[in-house]
Amino acid sequence: MAEDLTITKGSKEEQYQALLPQMRALLTGETDLVANLANVTAALKEQFNWLWVGFYVVKGDELVLGPFQGPVACTRIRKGRGVCGTAWQQVKTLIVPDVEKFPGHIACSSLSKSEIVVPVIKADEVVAVLDVDSEAYNLFDEVDKKYLEEIVTLIKF
Ligand code: SME
Repeated sequence: MAEDLTITKGSKEEQYQALLPQMRALLTGETDLVANLANVTAALKEQFNWLWVGFYVVKGDELVLGPFQGPVACTRIRKGRGVCGTAWQQVKTLIVPDVEKFPGHIACSSLSKSEIVVPVIKADEVVAVLDVDSEAYNLFDEVDKKYLEEIVTLIKF
């Protein structure tokens, strides 16, 4: 596996394009889930320097905090709660331009202004969500959705 990440400048699209093959290399040959989730969050944090990026893993009827990069966060989220629990319930990526306008948003950090949550789906079931928070309003768009959805398909659950 690759152990160094090459950080790319340029448009968001160019950054994701450069990151994708590196992400594939990082995940190749390693089957341990925690190791892989940890490296995906680290690579995303290194490339984009978002406020918070991490996984919540489905355990029973809750999401439980998994590997992440950023400030400490709430550990358990119920289905249908917050952006994460809503993305799980609706089985779809949610882009939130202003977290204060999302009913029921769970504020783990008062610095977070916008958010994207991408469900990780295996055999038609949501097994985890990837959550990303930014200190800027309106940071996430369809480009993030497209590439983050692709990145989570690379992870073997
Ligand atoms: N804001 C999320 C909670 C998780 S933290 O952002 C890390 C939510 O509303 O589900």
